[in-house]
Amino acid sequence: MKAMSEKPTVFVTRKLPVAVEDRLQRDYQVRLNPDDRLYSRDELIERSTGAQAILPCHTEHLSADVIQRLPPDVRIIANFSVGYDHVDVEAARARGIVVTNTPDVLSDATAELAIMLMIGAARRAGEGEKLVRQRLWKDWSPAFMVGTQVTGKRLGIIGMGRVGRVVARRARGFDMRIHYHDLRPLSADEGVYHDTVESLLPHCDFISLNCNVTPATRGLMNAARFALLPDGAILVNAARGALIDDDALVAALASGRLRAAGIDAYNNEPNVDARIVALPNTFLMPHIGSATRETRDAMGFRALDNLDAFFEGRDPGDRVV
Ligand code: DGY
Repeated sequence: MKAMSEKPTVFVTRKLPVAVEDRLQRDYQVRLNPDDRLYSRDELIERSTGAQAILPCHTEHLSADVIQRLPPDVRIIANFSVGYDHVDVEAARARGIVVTNTPDVLSDATAELAIMLMIGAARRAGEGEKLVRQRLWKDWSPAFMVGTQVTGKRLGIIGMGRVGRVVARRARGFDMRIHYHDLRPLSADEGVYHDTVESLLPHCDFISLNCNVTPATRGLMNAARFALLPDGAILVNAARGALIDDDALVAALASGRLRAAGIDAYNNEPNVDARIVALPNTFLMPHIGSATRETRDAMGFRALDNLDAFFEGRDPGDRVV
């Protein structure tokens, strides 16, 4: 067992599950955040002093200017998230800082949420819940709260990676027919492959975004692409808000071109665009795709596995930079 003074120091930006913090405290010198306060950029830099590692969440914006100002001891950013669009990876690369993420362990939880968003949007779950909870439900009639069925419809998936493939598998349980776009086709039993987003969209009664944010996918769903969907299609976003142009989304929902949207990830979180909140045909969740007890523990352990590997001189399995 290493003496405390030999253990690397890890700055943990948010409060993590107990079992994860216990393991951190056993194996590292740790700077925790027991109050779970969101640190400013300056505080992130200040609290990194003397730390060899930072363990952040997607709530910490490690932009180029922050990374450039990080103290010289910082050698690894081990994210507690699969997405790493909150880290300027080029700035990290330039400083020789290793960056890791936590893939795989949240695919099931995120796919569950995507299915919930799809059904919630199609069956008007947000409106229905509000009616009952606010005691506004007055009557029942054949025309009351009529939504659209999911079973047997076509589901388009943009990004057939780990999460996208689980979404497809669950959706097949509803007899949905899968169409998808990714950089490369998978085996034929995964669904119908489309080599461009444009060729996919006309085939989608539902469209689920399951790709990363990159310069190529930022603002992916814009006015021109919404126009390619069949009338009354439903959008599901359990990935990242930056994949959507909010003006185009609001226009498509307001015009009815999109029947509804189920959304868990937004631009400018947690300050969701007021127009999206005001629309009745949105089913909205507060970025909880990976928020299950099992998954949050697994994400923490995965981040720690990456740290352990790095400090033992092995290659961290989930290295993105
Ligand atoms: C992820 O892991 O990217 C989730 O969005 C939570 O940060």
